[in-house]
Amino acid sequence: MDSNDINKKATENSNLRPDGSKKVVLSGIRSTGNLHLGNYYGALQKFVRMQDDFDSRYFIADLHALTTNPDPKALHESVKQILAEYLAAGLDPEKNILYVQSDIPEISEMYLLLNMHVGIGELMRTASFKDKARKALGINSDSDEIEKEIIGNQGNNARVNAGLLTYPTLMAVDILIHRADFVPVGKDQEQHLELTRRFARRFNSFYGVDYFNEPVNFNFGGEAIKVPGLDGSGKMGKSEGNCIYLIDDEKTLRKKVMRAVTDAGPTEPNSPVSQPVENLFMLMDLVSGKDTTDTFRKAYADCSIRYGDLKKQLAEDLLKVTLPIRQRILDIRDNDEYLSRVVKDGAERAREYAAQTLKDVREIMGIRKI
Ligand code: TRP
Repeated sequence: MDSNDINKKATENSNLRPDGSKKVVLSGIRSTGNLHLGNYYGALQKFVRMQDDFDSRYFIADLHALTTNPDPKALHESVKQILAEYLAAGLDPEKNILYVQSDIPEISEMYLLLNMHVGIGELMRTASFKDKARKALGINSDSDEIEKEIIGNQGNNARVNAGLLTYPTLMAVDILIHRADFVPVGKDQEQHLELTRRFARRFNSFYGVDYFNEPVNFNFGGEAIKVPGLDGSGKMGKSEGNCIYLIDDEKTLRKKVMRAVTDAGPTEPNSPVSQPVENLFMLMDLVSGKDTTDTFRKAYADCSIRYGDLKKQLAEDLLKVTLPIRQRILDIRDNDEYLSRVVKDGAERAREYAAQTLKDVREIMGIRKI
């Protein structure tokens, strides 16, 4: 089954397990900075749409954030910020379990246990690891070179840390500790999900149990949404510096959009659309709707398009989405008492499930009381 079939299967399935209980949804976002529009459309919006029909549990992946060695104060701020952003985007603490990953010590213990069944080869071949290792080492070619660099060069010891390598183990534990059915994530996380399924199968078959099910991505009807950046290249991403943040104020957002990369403009009717301009059309599809985009696509086709008008319209419609969320973030962000109540309650509820799974896993693996 390729990932499309898996998605299709997931959306066709009902929201109930055979025993009548709601299916479990689990997802999280790493706490590195603020959330951007890619997080919003790729993840957060799906989280919100699923909260009524599923047993949904969403967390802030602060242990995963440690893999890139953030400044401690910045890490703490980001956890708080993302929690406020979850709530501002519409995640209801009454309908979901909202928690911080590091509040669940069972995750760290199960991470140690699961690592015993994970190969360093498969981890080194993971695209996200290769990307990060390449960046850390300043090389831009293939994996062979990465392996040589990592193993051979003493100077690189701390630059590609072991946590970065075992990132997928930790992510698999996040998911498996809840024995989740669905994991709504963007396209870039598909490979991690594939590894999670593989680790689950491997665990089951090694111990001869039928303990873990195989979680799948979830998309409402069809493909995962891709949110492009403003720099004319690929997707919107923090490290790319091409983001619109939910917390951006009006002036900042307008400025970013007006500066977005375009091209010299079409000179012949019906010319192909360049990537930077296509990116703006794609963003427009998301926030303005297809009708508006069609008008501009037509103007592109007959060479009457003015990028300034396109950008003004795009900024206007982006602001309609982000400004109300920004206002709610500001309202919630400094309410420490409320925020800590939400995560304390979330951690208590999440730990019930985590503790049960860890107990079972220890037992299955032979860690038993004398
Ligand atoms: N790796 C995910 C990301 O970068 C974050 C994440 C960590 C996650 N653990 C998870 C997502 C478990 C879903 C489920 O976006």
